[in-house]
Amino acid sequence: MFLNLARKRLSCRSYLEQPVPRELLDYCLEAARLAPSACNQQPWRFIVVSDPELRKQIADRALLPGLPMPWLQVAPVIVVLCAKKSPVTHIAAPLFSGIHYHLLDIGIAGEHFVLAAAEKGLGTCWIGWFKTKTTAKILGLSGSLKPIALIPVGYPAVSAEPRERLPLSDIADFR
Ligand SMILES: Cc1cc2nc3c(=O)[nH]c(=O)nc-3n(C[C@H](O)[C@H](O)[C@H](O)COP(=O)(O)O)c2cc1C
Repeated sequence: MFLNLARKRLSCRSYLEQPVPRELLDYCLEAARLAPSACNQQPWRFIVVSDPELRKQIADRALLPGLPMPWLQVAPVIVVLCAKKSPVTHIAAPLFSGIHYHLLDIGIAGEHFVLAAAEKGLGTCWIGWFKTKTTAKILGLSGSLKPIALIPVGYPAVSAEPRERLPLSDIADFR
């Protein structure tokens, strides 16, 4: 049942060093690849970083202050989820609608990825409190790729506790 998977996905902030098999990463990436996107532009690019030196540089230098995330040093994989914007859908269209479609698209694809990971018993955590430019520099990304989120992936060292959610009556309005 889908709700069971949605409940199983929790932010993991404690990882084992145990490597993640490539076929599991491919499974999660395939789930992301199937995501919908505005004008089917598929602006997501997943940089899957397993190299220990690159991971250390991201964990040491690319996090913003005030929210320590020491567990990022341990996660065996850090996915850098990037946007490749198209001039029409992601730059011109938002001038009319006020909606940043590439962020929606990346959020959907990223959530497909983390849900697939949860199904396979892997822990993940969305990270938005990081330095996008420093991350791009560490990875030598071209100017057309902008990091939008980091997602560590690995086997959980301890199981996470579910966090409270607003009741349905607060978030849904039936008219
Ligand atoms: C866009 C986004 C950015 C986030 N950034 C961070 C972050 O920088 N550091 C962190 O520890 N958690 C981060 N989180 C995780 C949230 O704190 C977490 O999803 C929320 O508290 C609900 O907990 P749950 O994921 O375990 O259900 C982020 C989540 C999202 C969706």
